[in-house]
Amino acid sequence: MTTATMDLKQHIRGIPDFPKPGILFYDISTLMRDADAWQVAMGRMTRAVAPWAPDMLAAIESRGFLTAAPLASRLGCGLVMLRKPGKLPGATVSHEYDLEYGSDTLHIQADAIRPGQRVVVMDDLLATGGTLAASVALLRKVGANVVGAATLIEIRALGGRDRLDIPVESLVSYD
Ligand code: PRP
Ligand code: MG
Repeated sequence: MTTATMDLKQHIRGIPDFPKPGILFYDISTLMRDADAWQVAMGRMTRAVAPWAPDMLAAIESRGFLTAAPLASRLGCGLVMLRKPGKLPGATVSHEYDLEYGSDTLHIQADAIRPGQRVVVMDDLLATGGTLAASVALLRKVGANVVGAATLIEIRALGGRDRLDIPVESLVSYD
């Protein structure tokens, strides 16, 4: 199979009942383990994100780090981490968001973004969109111009992109 026709779904495992009964977990471990498939995925992601001309990628802890870091290197732009509480040194700005049960918080270093910088937010997977929506809100608090979001995988049936007011690119989608 040539790189142009490679079906990335063949490299992504769906594992039933993880982490809870009834959840089908899309596992990118098998995609990253295959050097050729991972190269193809990052090449396609680069072509999807480059037209937005970002100054900075924002990587969502933790699996977003895996997609954002190689992409920033390929695009020649900066990289900033959106992290769970207690991980980032120095002054941070935070945003709390609701989960199905309870809530979660993401932080960014207060001086990470210069106001008006073009930022693309990156994760591995778009499901309900709650994580990406919270990330966009956090980035806007520090003055970012959030120009898009990109993920490897999108679960369309959960309607995540409808919660976002920015363009979204995903490489592989499931119903
Ligand atoms: C998963 C996934 C996305 C998020 C998507 O992260 O990596 O970040 O859920 O779900 P949503 O669109 O419904 O918000 P998880 O919280 O499992 O943590 P991890 O990345 O640290 O493994
Ligand atoms: Mg995650």
